Amino acid sequence: MLAFSSLSVTAAIFIAGAHASPTFYPDVTLAPGLPSFESLGLTTKDLYTKPPVSSSSSSLEARSSNAQCVSAPEANGSVDGAIACYNILARMGDASCPVPDNNRIFCSVNDIVVIGTNTNHISGGTSSSCGDVALAVQYIFNHCNVGGRVSGVAVANGNGNLMVGVYNKNYPSLPVS
Ligand SMILES: *[C@@H]1O[C@H](CO)[C@@H](O)[C@H](O)[C@H]1NC(C)=O
Repeated sequence: MLAFSSLSVTAAIFIAGAHASPTFYPDVTLAPGLPSFESLGLTTKDLYTKPPVSSSSSSLEARSSNAQCVSAPEANGSVDGAIACYNILARMGDASCPVPDNNRIFCSVNDIVVIGTNTNHISGGTSSSCGDVALAVQYIFNHCNVGGRVSGVAVANGNGNLMVGVYNKNYPSLPVS
């Protein structure tokens, strides 16, 4: 279980190193109402130059272990974007990441979207902490990364009503409504 968190930290450090002195940073889009970069004390540049936050607990990550990788060809996007979304959501920590209706795009970086789905159609929506959504994203990029491309779904830690998906933003079968 420890291997999971050290894997992801290694991956994130690799990404940070690969972009040590970029002159161009990707567009990051966060769902309205989530903590802003400013409130997190972050700029998009920081995602590539600050060390990533580590997973709060590898045993918590393991609770997302019903993850399923999505193998449809057009579903995958670059793992870099998934790791960047993980870093943002993990820094939001205990802040709420609600899905007020059926689906919601929490975070979009490059060709990646992180989508939350109210999978049991709970009236009034469902919500987890952004840190728990981040753990699902981490599980997906640790277990569904094929040659730097990733797509998969996993429940937000401890909340079977909130399914977290990582997809290519142009995937024709995105679970958005
Ligand atoms: C990712 O999607 C591309 C474009 O559809 C496809 O050619 C490729 O095989 C996919 N890669 C994986 C690992 O599924």
